[in-house]
Amino acid sequence: MKVENLKYRYPNTTKLALDGLDFEIDKGSFIGIIGENGAGKSTLCQVFNGLVPGFFKGAYGGKVLIGDTEVAKTTVSKLCQKVGLVFQNPFNQLTGAKETVFEEIAFGLQNFGVLKEEMISRVNEVMELLDIADYRDRNPFDLSGGQMQRVALAGILAMKPEVIVLDEPTSQLDPAGSEEVFAAVDKLTKSGITIIMVEQKLEKLAEYCDRILWQRVSSV
Ligand SMILES: Nc1ncnc2c1ncn2[C@@H]1O[C@H](COP(=O)(O)OP(=O)(O)OP(=O)(O)O)[C@@H](O)[C@H]1O
Ligand SMILES: [Mg+2]
Repeated sequence: MKVENLKYRYPNTTKLALDGLDFEIDKGSFIGIIGENGAGKSTLCQVFNGLVPGFFKGAYGGKVLIGDTEVAKTTVSKLCQKVGLVFQNPFNQLTGAKETVFEEIAFGLQNFGVLKEEMISRVNEVMELLDIADYRDRNPFDLSGGQMQRVALAGILAMKPEVIVLDEPTSQLDPAGSEEVFAAVDKLTKSGITIIMVEQKLEKLAEYCDRILWQRVSSV
């Protein structure tokens, strides 16, 4: 992945949220992003999956390339097959429409018309990998935060994205839940997926990821 002179300002604001970022990320690497509140970490995450500028509009300049794909020139629905985004609060990202963990994880695949057999096999595979197969028939909302976050991650992983972006996925979790999520993400590093994770817990991030990027508050 390549980020070239990326600049972005939200509509009706005067300050840049992203102020000329330049970096490259090797395919399959695990990158940590650290920075103070308001530095633009979540904005950057939303650039990766096209919500910025696709949904938020605003003034956008520069380029983000995933392979040959320029994200700002791709539709959000195409991008969501390439880039999966996991948010802070596991509760908010569950569909709320599904009564079992299995159905919840299958939801995205169903929407994209993946055939039933393929769907079942992918869901089983990601449940095994993330160690949540025991909860397959449970209601996702009855799980702990760490378990829920792994269900959310499984739903994204089942889509076989090239890149997974996690925006403070452990900030709402207790130490045990955080540990579960870090261990789950660590397993993915072996699968060739590029992982970008925003975290406040620098020590934990440093223990797991290949490289840390510091995101600073824009001065303009
Ligand atoms: N929807 C929005 N409209 C206008 N300005 C916004 C919007 N979302 C974020 N911003 C502004 O953009 C800047 C970057 O915000 P962002 O949420 O990306 O920071 P962050 O690094 O994720 O912060 P935090 O650590 O608090 O999560 C901030 O100045 C923020 O006020
Ligand atoms: Mg944020």
